[in-house]
Amino acid sequence: KEALVFTYNGVMYPAAICDTDTFKDIESFEAREDDLMLVSYPKCGSHWAHSLLHSIVGAKEKKEAPFGIPVIEFKVYHKYVKENTVSSPRILATHLHYHNIPQSFFDKKVKMLVVFRNPKDTAVSFFHFYNNNSVLPSYDTWDDFFPDFMAGKVVNGSYFDHAVTWNKHLDEDTVLLMTFEDMKEDLEGSVKKISEFFGISITEEQVKQIAEKGSFKYMKENSEKTQGAIAKVVFRKGDVGDWRSHFSEAQSQEVDSKFEECLAGTKLGELLKYNVHCK
Ligand code: A3P
Repeated sequence: KEALVFTYNGVMYPAAICDTDTFKDIESFEAREDDLMLVSYPKCGSHWAHSLLHSIVGAKEKKEAPFGIPVIEFKVYHKYVKENTVSSPRILATHLHYHNIPQSFFDKKVKMLVVFRNPKDTAVSFFHFYNNNSVLPSYDTWDDFFPDFMAGKVVNGSYFDHAVTWNKHLDEDTVLLMTFEDMKEDLEGSVKKISEFFGISITEEQVKQIAEKGSFKYMKENSEKTQGAIAKVVFRKGDVGDWRSHFSEAQSQEVDSKFEECLAGTKLGELLKYNVHCK
């Protein structure tokens, strides 16, 4: 089990995807003012948000940007990170916690779309991801996974640490927070918000088309072509509330207490609409 993951600066990462050389190199990553950055804790909807961003940029540039999600800390992008040769505008992504994002992103005031999802559905999605993904260890049962999720003993560390640190930066002009649940409720509205935030003007017709291509059904059916084998693992159910078929009452209360302790009364706490989606 242990060989599949390694720890860097106190956080676990999948050894097949990340390595220490890349982590060292990204410290000096050169961001550009016109980069578009997508930040997410795993399973909060990164592929979904990336696809929207990709389509929005594509609608403006009138050419398709290369697909594949360039997650800056993944070793497959090591060359990309080092050589800095890809033309602008670049769509970049990361699962890193706030304090591990390369300084250059802040110096250049790069705009960041930060995507969050309620912790209960995130945990369930993560559990299935662990079990369907050969690069991660598997868990026999949900009950085995749950305590590790709560303790942050999962790849990319604790959901709650990630949330608490990002929460402090949500009022910055360079940050837009979107939730999985809001995207689900109003995809066209979300497309508009994202494009306005990045200063990309697109027509109503383009908004509609982008939202159609961003539906769960469309993405599930078509993403294998663009994203490869990982698509089979990523597009599972795409629902809000699947946690109800996994959580015991005690587990649910444990997350409620943790949420209360970490996020109650905060902006992120409010935007996540916890009482609607998690009670
Ligand atoms: P589930 O496992 O609950 O189905 P990430 O991309 O960050 O790994 O997140 C994956 C989660 O987002 C999965 O959740 C996946 O089904 C969901 N997802 C991906 N695309 C989606 C879409 N277009 N609409 C709704 N959910 C989507």
